[in-house]
Formats: sequence, structure tokens, C-alpha cells
Amino acid sequence: MMYASRKSVMKHLEPFIDEQWPKLLRSTDELWQPSDFLPDFTSESAAEDLAELQEEASRLPEDILNSLVGDTITEEALPTYAQWLASMKGVGQAGCTNGTPWAAWNRAWCAEENRHGDVLAAYLRLCGRVKMREVELTIHHLVYDGMDIQTGSDPYRFFVYTSFQELATLRSHRNIGRMAESAGAPRLAKMNRVIAGDEGWHAKAYRLFIQKFLEIDTDEAVLAIADMFRKKIIMPAMNLRESGGEKGIAFKRFEVLAQRAGVYTSRDYIEIMEFLIDAWELAQLTGLSTEAQDARDFVCALPGRYRKALERRRDTATDETPIRFNWMA
Ligand SMILES: [Fe+2]
Ligand SMILES: [Fe+2]
Repeated sequence: MMYASRKSVMKHLEPFIDEQWPKLLRSTDELWQPSDFLPDFTSESAAEDLAELQEEASRLPEDILNSLVGDTITEEALPTYAQWLASMKGVGQAGCTNGTPWAAWNRAWCAEENRHGDVLAAYLRLCGRVKMREVELTIHHLVYDGMDIQTGSDPYRFFVYTSFQELATLRSHRNIGRMAESAGAPRLAKMNRVIAGDEGWHAKAYRLFIQKFLEIDTDEAVLAIADMFRKKIIMPAMNLRESGGEKGIAFKRFEVLAQRAGVYTSRDYIEIMEFLIDAWELAQLTGLSTEAQDARDFVCALPGRYRKALERRRDTATDETPIRFNWMA
């Protein structure tokens, strides 16, 4: 089937999305809320619960705590992501109840995501190891500075980005959860497990959107995937800065930290790429234009190239210098 534009493909998929999006997410009644993991200050056991939370947080190594702060800040910049999604061709106003099914997805997705920053920020506030005003300033800067994830207003490119990004956050939350578990912080471990679970659901939905584009607009979908992978999927907190710092400098240090702590590494990046190539069955696609075929071959060869480059770098000694951020107490 030939479509004139992204807009018409998005329009064509509206009935499908309308039917699918409620199944791609869970009903509000089934979902967790931040309070499920935090002390209840109306209960008699509040002081005890808080003491227990602080006790477990005192066991977290600094690199892990810093990674957790970085992830929290990233989650808290949700207004930027919701706006970005709303600006894609064919999506439309997120706040409008009678908008497109794509906009309905945006709202439902946002409602789920909104809990991530909330629960993490509350944990950090209560744990007593973090200067929250510094964290808040950084969130403020990040929302203010925005981002450019190089998708333009193309929904194909954007959903390639989100397919990747949700899996990246899944890994980051899951890894911090595991590290919290072994450090003796089960409350944080559980929180991170459920957040990672949400990211997994979202990733599945975004993968499905790309799957549909591949079915009905194959060449263009392949070209969008290749374009995003060629540019590299950069995390949405790319402009992260500390108070008094330059835009993006703190992000560079945060990347080094996440790599060193094993929270989100080059290996994760390669594995996500491989997983998506597999899930979208790119190698099996037939009937492509020459341009799309070249793009597909480029994408399929990319993980192997990255792996080779990674092996060459392996003997570089890891720098153990402490990476300090303004927000550490
Ligand atoms: Fe999230
Ligand atoms: Fe997410």
C-alpha cells in the first residue's frame, strides 16, 4: 500500500491504536502508586518506616546513589517528553480528551510515567543523603533546556527512539535495583523492579507501533530506523547540568558514572540494538527498495561493528576517581 505522508499512515492506524492502547497498558486500579513504597505519614508506624528507609539508604554506595539521582532527574523531565510526543505528525494535543487515539496513548503513557519521578524523588527526599534543592535546580534546568533527540516531527523516528529508550531505562532501573538488593536496600530494589516493569510494557507498545509502520510503509520505516541508529540514540537527559554549570556537562559525567557503575553501559546499548533488529525481523524483510536494502544491511551490521570497537577498548583501565555532584550531601 502506498501512502502519501506520515500523517496518512498515522490516520490509517488510528482504529488499530484505539483498540490496542488500553491493552498495552494496565487499568488504573491495577497499577501501583508511589505511596505503596513510601512511609505513610498518617500511620503510627511512620517514624519507624522512615528510620528503616534511611537505614537501608545509608548502605548504598555513592556511585549507585548518584546514578539513582540521575535517573530520577531524567524521569522528572517528563513534561519535555510528553510535549515532544504531542508534536509528532498525526499525534495531536495530549490534553484534549477527544483527540486522536495517539494522543490518548500519550496521556495514558504519561500518567504511568509520572509515577516514576514521583516515587524516586520522594525516596531521595526521605533518604537523607541528598541535597534536594540541588536536585530540584537540575530538574528545573533540564525542563527549561529541553532536548533535541533528532527525530524532527517524524513519528517513525520518534517511536524508534522510544522503542530504544524505554529498554535503556528498563536496564538502568533494573540494574540499580539489583545493586540495591545486594547492598541491603530491599525497598529501593522493589521500587526499581516495578519501574523497570513499566518501562518493559511501554517498550513493547512502541515496538508494536514500529512493527505496524514496517508492515504498511516498509521502506520508509527501515530508513527511519537506520537514520536513528546511525545518529546514535542519545539519552533524553543530554542537557543535564548542575546549578552553576554549563548545559550538558553534568550529563557527560553522568554517562561515565553509569558506565563505570555498570548501571547503563556500551554493552547494554549494543544488546538493545540487537534485540530490536531481531524483534522487528529486519534481516528477513523482502521487497525493499535499493536504498532501504542498503539501510537495512547497515543496521544489521552495526551491532557487530560496535562489539569489535568495544573489544578494542577493553584493556583501557577504569578510572576510579570519585565523580562528585552538587547534590551529594
Ligand atoms: Fe520512566
Ligand atoms: Fe519510560
